[in-house]
Amino acid sequence: MSIETRPLHPTIGAVMTGIDARRPQSAAEIAALEAGMDRHAVLVLPDQDITDAEQLAFTRNFGPLQEGANTTLTATTLRLGAAFADVSNLDKDNRRLERDDRRRMAALGNRLWHSDATFRVVPARYSFLSGRIVTTQGGNTEFADMRAAYDALDAATKAEIEPLICEHSLIYSRGQLGFTDFTDDERITMRPVRHRLVRTHPVTGRKSLLLSAHIGAIVGWPRPEAMAFVRDLMEHATRPEFVYVHRWTRHDLVIWDNRTTMHRVRRFDDLTIVRDMRRTTTMSEGPTAQQAAA
Ligand code: OGA
Ligand code: MN
Repeated sequence: MSIETRPLHPTIGAVMTGIDARRPQSAAEIAALEAGMDRHAVLVLPDQDITDAEQLAFTRNFGPLQEGANTTLTATTLRLGAAFADVSNLDKDNRRLERDDRRRMAALGNRLWHSDATFRVVPARYSFLSGRIVTTQGGNTEFADMRAAYDALDAATKAEIEPLICEHSLIYSRGQLGFTDFTDDERITMRPVRHRLVRTHPVTGRKSLLLSAHIGAIVGWPRPEAMAFVRDLMEHATRPEFVYVHRWTRHDLVIWDNRTTMHRVRRFDDLTIVRDMRRTTTMSEGPTAQQAAA
């Protein structure tokens, strides 16, 4: 099968055909996928009717797995293995989550623009989201190009943000939606971590904005001033010209580079409609900033 790539947007997103994610990949196929990711930041692989085991095996081609996405809330019973982020609206018995379910409350955070796992010291590299049961009424996933957003900043802003360090935590992103009832243990698991606001892609050398709903502070800044500035940057970075909107087809496997993009899911009627999306994730190279002493 020959590999073909068709851009979906001037700077972000492309469809790649000629890859079968169910099978072991050759070195040439991995190289094509990585080159496609470095260029387009989001790749859509259509017609990938994969099992969980196949998805995991495919993901492992791109580095160590980032696990534990569904265990930040204590006492959660998992529907999928711990290596998966279950971003469905289903419980362990495959029933839709109730309106006030705690896992549903937490998952609503995905409606805010974010980059995956920036609440960890080593954040995510690639995310692989498999559309097992997709929605047509709402539930699109939107991706914003943080390279293009960085490039479009004026020189003074680029210079100002270059040294800045932000603090990220799930407490901040969930708190934005008013979800604040955490146990003491959860508060320890979710304590803030530090990341640079500007980061450089290790392969392309391009700079991008490391923004995420998980940001709750800029080190050394008064909090309201920091959050007002982060809002301005978010507004800039998610202007329509930087955004690719993905409308799902069943068995799409969508891969994004969290180092150069943000994403969010749009509202859908999750109390009535089933949406079964399963994410696997790899880790990025290492911390983007030194952490404060505990
Ligand atoms: C994710 C996520 C968006 C979606 O899996 O990391 O944010 O469309 N999902 O479900
Ligand atoms: Mn996400």
